[in-house]
Amino acid sequence: MTYKRILLKLSGESLMGKKQFGIDNDRLSDYANEIKEIVNQGIEVAIVIGGGNIFRGIQAEEGGMERTQGDYMGMLATVINGMALQSALETVGIKTRLQTAIEMKEVAEPFIKRKAVRHLEKGRVVIFGAGTGNPFFTTDTAASLRAIEIEADVILKGTRVDGIYTADPEKDSTAIKYDTITFDEVYKKRLNVMDMTAFTLCKENKLPIIVFDMDTPGNLKKVINQEENIGTLVEI
Ligand code: GTP
Repeated sequence: MTYKRILLKLSGESLMGKKQFGIDNDRLSDYANEIKEIVNQGIEVAIVIGGGNIFRGIQAEEGGMERTQGDYMGMLATVINGMALQSALETVGIKTRLQTAIEMKEVAEPFIKRKAVRHLEKGRVVIFGAGTGNPFFTTDTAASLRAIEIEADVILKGTRVDGIYTADPEKDSTAIKYDTITFDEVYKKRLNVMDMTAFTLCKENKLPIIVFDMDTPGNLKKVINQEENIGTLVEI
Protein backbone atom coordinates (compact mmCIF):
# COMPACT_ATOMS: atom_id res chain seq x y z
CA MET A 1 0.00 0.00 0.00
CA THR A 2 1.35 3.43 -0.83
CA TYR A 3 0.39 6.23 1.49
CA LYS A 4 -0.91 9.52 0.18
CA ARG A 5 -2.06 11.23 3.37
CA ILE A 6 -0.74 10.39 6.81
CA LEU A 7 -1.24 11.57 10.35
CA LEU A 8 1.97 11.62 12.36
CA LYS A 9 1.65 11.50 16.13
CA LEU A 10 4.73 12.87 17.89
CA SER A 11 5.39 12.52 21.58
CA GLY A 12 5.89 15.72 23.53
CA GLU A 13 8.40 13.95 25.77
CA SER A 14 10.60 13.11 22.78
CA LEU A 15 10.89 16.82 22.08
CA MET A 16 12.91 17.15 25.30
CA GLY A 17 15.77 15.30 23.61
CA LYS A 18 18.61 15.32 26.11
CA LYS A 19 16.99 17.98 28.27
CA GLN A 20 15.01 17.40 31.47
CA PHE A 21 12.17 19.71 30.49
CA GLY A 22 10.91 21.75 27.56
CA ILE A 23 12.09 21.69 23.99
CA ASP A 24 15.48 20.59 22.66
CA ASN A 25 16.24 22.61 19.53
CA ASP A 26 18.36 19.86 17.98
CA ARG A 27 15.57 17.32 18.32
CA LEU A 28 13.09 19.83 16.94
CA SER A 29 15.17 20.47 13.84
CA ASP A 30 15.81 16.73 13.39
CA TYR A 31 12.04 16.20 13.33
CA ALA A 32 11.56 19.10 10.91
CA ASN A 33 14.14 17.62 8.51
CA GLU A 34 12.62 14.15 8.73
CA ILE A 35 9.18 15.56 7.96
CA LYS A 36 10.57 17.69 5.13
CA GLU A 37 11.86 14.57 3.38
CA ILE A 38 8.44 12.96 3.17
CA VAL A 39 6.65 16.21 2.29
CA ASN A 40 9.07 16.65 -0.62
CA GLN A 41 8.17 13.14 -1.67
CA GLY A 42 4.58 14.37 -2.14
CA ILE A 43 3.06 12.88 1.01
CA GLU A 44 0.32 14.94 2.68
CA VAL A 45 1.25 15.25 6.33
CA ALA A 46 -0.89 16.18 9.33
CA ILE A 47 0.62 16.16 12.80
CA VAL A 48 -0.63 15.84 16.36
CA ILE A 49 1.94 16.42 19.05
CA GLY A 50 1.71 15.70 22.76
CA GLY A 51 2.56 18.09 25.58
CA GLY A 52 4.22 15.86 28.16
CA ASN A 53 7.54 17.71 27.95
CA ILE A 54 5.79 20.74 29.43
CA PHE A 55 2.79 19.52 31.38
CA ARG A 56 0.87 16.30 32.00
CA GLY A 57 -2.73 16.53 33.20
CA ILE A 58 -2.72 13.11 34.82
CA GLN A 59 0.31 13.87 37.01
CA ALA A 60 -1.21 17.17 38.06
CA GLU A 61 -4.19 15.18 39.35
CA GLU A 62 -1.86 13.00 41.42
CA GLY A 63 -0.53 16.24 42.93
CA GLY A 64 -4.06 17.22 44.00
CA MET A 65 -5.10 19.41 41.07
CA GLU A 66 -8.52 18.90 39.58
CA ARG A 67 -8.19 16.63 36.53
CA THR A 68 -10.03 18.89 34.10
CA GLN A 69 -7.83 21.85 35.05
CA GLY A 70 -4.70 19.76 34.50
CA ASP A 71 -5.98 18.47 31.18
CA TYR A 72 -6.66 21.96 29.87
CA MET A 73 -3.13 22.97 30.91
CA GLY A 74 -1.86 19.93 29.00
CA MET A 75 -3.83 21.00 25.92
CA LEU A 76 -2.18 24.41 26.04
CA ALA A 77 1.20 22.66 26.28
CA THR A 78 0.47 20.91 22.96
CA VAL A 79 -0.16 24.31 21.37
CA ILE A 80 3.27 25.50 22.54
CA ASN A 81 4.87 22.40 21.00
CA GLY A 82 2.82 22.87 17.83
CA MET A 83 4.04 26.46 17.51
CA ALA A 84 7.64 25.33 17.99
CA LEU A 85 7.26 22.62 15.36
CA GLN A 86 5.58 25.06 12.99
CA SER A 87 8.54 27.43 13.25
CA ALA A 88 11.05 24.62 12.83
CA LEU A 89 9.27 23.39 9.69
CA GLU A 90 9.09 26.88 8.24
CA THR A 91 12.81 27.32 8.91
CA VAL A 92 13.50 24.39 6.58
CA GLY A 93 11.12 25.78 3.95
CA ILE A 94 7.97 23.75 4.57
CA LYS A 95 4.62 25.53 4.47
CA THR A 96 2.47 24.89 7.51
CA ARG A 97 -0.81 25.76 9.17
CA LEU A 98 -1.55 25.33 12.87
CA GLN A 99 -5.15 24.68 13.87
CA THR A 100 -6.32 24.45 17.45
CA ALA A 101 -9.26 22.64 19.03
CA ILE A 102 -9.62 25.48 21.55
CA GLU A 103 -10.13 28.79 19.82
CA MET A 104 -7.23 31.21 20.19
CA LYS A 105 -7.52 33.18 16.99
CA GLU A 106 -4.58 35.49 17.64
CA VAL A 107 -2.28 32.48 17.83
CA ALA A 108 -3.64 29.98 15.30
CA GLU A 109 -6.55 29.08 13.08
CA PRO A 110 -9.44 27.26 14.73
CA PHE A 111 -9.83 23.60 13.75
CA ILE A 112 -12.00 23.41 10.64
CA LYS A 113 -11.91 20.04 8.95
CA ARG A 114 -12.59 21.33 5.44
CA LYS A 115 -9.86 23.94 5.74
CA ALA A 116 -7.44 21.36 7.09
CA VAL A 117 -8.07 19.12 4.08
CA ARG A 118 -7.67 22.07 1.70
CA HIS A 119 -4.30 22.93 3.29
CA LEU A 120 -3.15 19.33 2.92
CA GLU A 121 -4.19 19.28 -0.74
CA LYS A 122 -2.04 22.38 -1.24
CA GLY A 123 0.97 20.60 0.23
CA ARG A 124 0.94 22.36 3.60
CA VAL A 125 1.71 20.45 6.75
CA VAL A 126 -1.21 20.84 9.14
CA ILE A 127 -0.48 20.70 12.85
CA PHE A 128 -3.44 20.11 15.15
CA GLY A 129 -3.03 21.65 18.60
CA ALA A 130 -4.98 21.48 21.88
CA GLY A 131 -5.85 17.79 21.57
CA THR A 132 -9.56 17.16 21.07
CA GLY A 133 -10.37 20.29 23.07
CA ASN A 134 -11.87 18.13 25.81
CA PRO A 135 -10.49 16.90 29.13
CA PHE A 136 -10.16 13.14 29.73
CA PHE A 137 -8.97 12.51 26.17
CA THR A 138 -5.32 11.87 25.35
CA THR A 139 -3.37 13.29 22.44
CA ASP A 140 -3.38 9.74 21.01
CA THR A 141 -7.17 10.00 20.90
CA ALA A 142 -6.87 13.43 19.27
CA ALA A 143 -4.53 11.88 16.69
CA SER A 144 -6.98 9.04 15.95
CA LEU A 145 -9.92 11.42 15.72
CA ARG A 146 -8.18 13.88 13.40
CA ALA A 147 -6.77 11.08 11.26
CA ILE A 148 -10.28 9.72 10.73
CA GLU A 149 -11.74 13.16 10.07
CA ILE A 150 -9.17 14.05 7.40
CA GLU A 151 -9.36 10.50 5.99
CA ALA A 152 -5.70 9.74 6.48
CA ASP A 153 -4.50 6.39 5.12
CA VAL A 154 -2.60 5.56 8.28
CA ILE A 155 -1.61 6.93 11.66
CA LEU A 156 2.10 6.83 12.41
CA LYS A 157 2.80 6.78 16.10
CA GLY A 158 6.34 7.90 16.80
CA THR A 159 7.74 6.46 20.05
CA ARG A 160 11.06 5.61 21.68
CA VAL A 161 10.76 1.90 20.84
CA ASP A 162 10.83 0.57 17.31
CA GLY A 163 7.48 -1.22 17.37
CA ILE A 164 5.18 -3.49 19.36
CA TYR A 165 6.84 -6.36 21.20
CA THR A 166 5.60 -9.57 22.82
CA ALA A 167 6.67 -7.98 26.15
CA ASP A 168 8.20 -4.67 27.23
CA PRO A 169 11.60 -4.69 25.44
CA GLU A 170 13.04 -2.30 28.02
CA LYS A 171 12.33 -4.88 30.77
CA ASP A 172 12.42 -8.25 29.01
CA SER A 173 15.38 -9.10 26.75
CA THR A 174 13.54 -12.07 25.19
CA ALA A 175 10.78 -9.82 23.82
CA ILE A 176 10.25 -10.14 20.05
CA LYS A 177 8.95 -7.42 17.75
CA TYR A 178 5.84 -7.96 15.63
CA ASP A 179 6.11 -6.75 12.02
CA THR A 180 2.33 -6.82 11.73
CA ILE A 181 -0.41 -7.60 14.23
CA THR A 182 -4.22 -7.40 14.15
CA PHE A 183 -6.32 -5.15 16.37
CA ASP A 184 -7.91 -8.26 17.90
CA GLU A 185 -4.54 -9.75 18.83
CA VAL A 186 -3.53 -6.50 20.51
CA TYR A 187 -6.70 -6.65 22.65
CA LYS A 188 -6.29 -10.36 23.37
CA LYS A 189 -2.64 -10.08 24.37
CA ARG A 190 -3.28 -6.83 26.26
CA LEU A 191 -0.43 -5.12 24.46
CA ASN A 192 0.07 -1.47 25.09
CA VAL A 193 -0.19 0.46 21.81
CA MET A 194 -2.37 3.45 22.64
CA ASP A 195 -5.00 4.06 25.28
CA MET A 196 -8.19 2.08 24.61
CA THR A 197 -10.27 5.08 23.49
CA ALA A 198 -7.72 5.96 20.80
CA PHE A 199 -7.14 2.35 19.81
CA THR A 200 -10.83 1.47 19.53
CA LEU A 201 -11.50 4.56 17.44
CA CYS A 202 -8.88 3.35 14.95
CA LYS A 203 -10.25 -0.19 14.93
CA GLU A 204 -13.86 0.86 14.41
CA ASN A 205 -12.86 3.09 11.52
CA LYS A 206 -10.42 0.58 10.01
CA LEU A 207 -7.55 3.01 10.33
CA PRO A 208 -4.20 1.18 10.40
CA ILE A 209 -1.60 2.24 12.97
CA ILE A 210 2.16 2.01 12.59
CA VAL A 211 4.20 2.23 15.78
CA PHE A 212 7.84 3.10 15.13
CA ASP A 213 10.93 4.74 16.59
CA MET A 214 10.84 8.37 15.48
CA ASP A 215 14.11 9.23 17.18
CA THR A 216 16.30 7.26 14.76
CA PRO A 217 17.09 9.53 11.81
CA GLY A 218 15.73 8.27 8.49
CA ASN A 219 13.05 6.05 10.05
CA LEU A 220 10.07 8.18 9.07
CA LYS A 221 11.00 7.97 5.40
CA LYS A 222 11.65 4.23 5.68
CA VAL A 223 8.24 3.65 7.26
CA ILE A 224 6.52 5.63 4.50
CA ASN A 225 8.40 3.74 1.81
CA GLN A 226 7.96 0.43 3.68
CA GLU A 227 11.66 -0.32 3.78
CA GLU A 228 13.54 -2.60 6.20
CA ASN A 229 10.51 -3.68 8.26
CA ILE A 230 10.69 -0.59 10.42
CA GLY A 231 8.05 -0.50 13.19
CA THR A 232 4.91 -2.59 13.66
CA LEU A 233 1.76 -2.29 11.54
CA VAL A 234 -1.56 -2.82 13.34
CA GLU A 235 -4.34 -3.67 10.92
CA ILE A 236 -7.82 -5.21 10.81
P1 GTP B 1 -6.11 29.29 1.15
O1 GTP B 1 -6.73 30.60 0.94
O2 GTP B 1 -7.07 28.12 1.07
O3 GTP B 1 -4.91 29.04 0.29
O4 GTP B 1 -5.57 29.18 2.68
P2 GTP B 1 -4.77 30.23 3.54
O5 GTP B 1 -4.52 29.56 4.85
O6 GTP B 1 -3.55 30.75 2.85
O7 GTP B 1 -5.78 31.42 3.64
P3 GTP B 1 -6.25 32.29 4.82
O8 GTP B 1 -6.57 33.60 4.20
O9 GTP B 1 -7.31 31.56 5.58
O10 GTP B 1 -4.99 32.42 5.78
C1 GTP B 1 -3.92 33.28 5.56
C2 GTP B 1 -3.00 33.19 6.76
O11 GTP B 1 -3.70 33.58 7.93
C3 GTP B 1 -2.46 31.79 7.05
O12 GTP B 1 -1.14 31.89 7.54
C4 GTP B 1 -3.37 31.26 8.14
O13 GTP B 1 -2.74 30.30 8.98
C5 GTP B 1 -3.68 32.55 8.88
N1 GTP B 1 -5.00 32.45 9.52
C6 GTP B 1 -6.18 32.15 8.96
N2 GTP B 1 -7.18 32.16 9.86
C7 GTP B 1 -6.60 32.48 11.05
C8 GTP B 1 -7.08 32.63 12.39
O14 GTP B 1 -8.25 32.48 12.71
N3 GTP B 1 -6.14 32.96 13.34
C9 GTP B 1 -4.84 33.11 13.04
N4 GTP B 1 -3.99 33.41 14.02
N5 GTP B 1 -4.35 32.99 11.81
C10 GTP B 1 -5.22 32.66 10.82
